[in-house]
Amino acid sequence: MAIYNIRQFGDPVLRQRAREIENVDGALRRLVDDMIETMYDAPGLGLAAPQVGVERRLFVYDIGDGPHAIINPVIVESRGEWNYDEGCLSIPDLSWNVVRPNEVHLRGVSIDGEEIDIEADELLARCFQHEMDHLDGILLVERLDADQRKEAMSILRHRTLDAAVAIDPAHV
Ligand code: NI
Repeated sequence: MAIYNIRQFGDPVLRQRAREIENVDGALRRLVDDMIETMYDAPGLGLAAPQVGVERRLFVYDIGDGPHAIINPVIVESRGEWNYDEGCLSIPDLSWNVVRPNEVHLRGVSIDGEEIDIEADELLARCFQHEMDHLDGILLVERLDADQRKEAMSILRHRTLDAAVAIDPAHV
């Protein structure tokens, strides 16, 4: 088992649409184990493969009864509205109140090749929608309203500059 570095806002891998998984093999099982370990270490409620640099349609989650992994997930239906203070491991230490559908119906495949069919609401539904966004290259900042996004981009721009200065030895 190994803990991955979680890719951070600004990393282009977070902006790609991840590809469907065709084969469940030993390498994929190891990836799932390592993603679960990385999620617990962070700690977070969910982690999508692109966040560890793997552009495949897979996420892991645990909102208290896990861990679970879902391969090639699809949201087939969503309903209602729910406001929740949402964060992301790729944008650490920040969160915003975001309205999204309250209920989702998600289908996918388990690591054992079994079909998954879940009706989720509230926190689990939010987790599914957030991780699905990662598989489509969409980050939480794109779900913010105009004022929230302006504030977010200002904070994130400064962070990126600070990181560049820290890495560049000329500034040491
Ligand atoms: Ni996230």
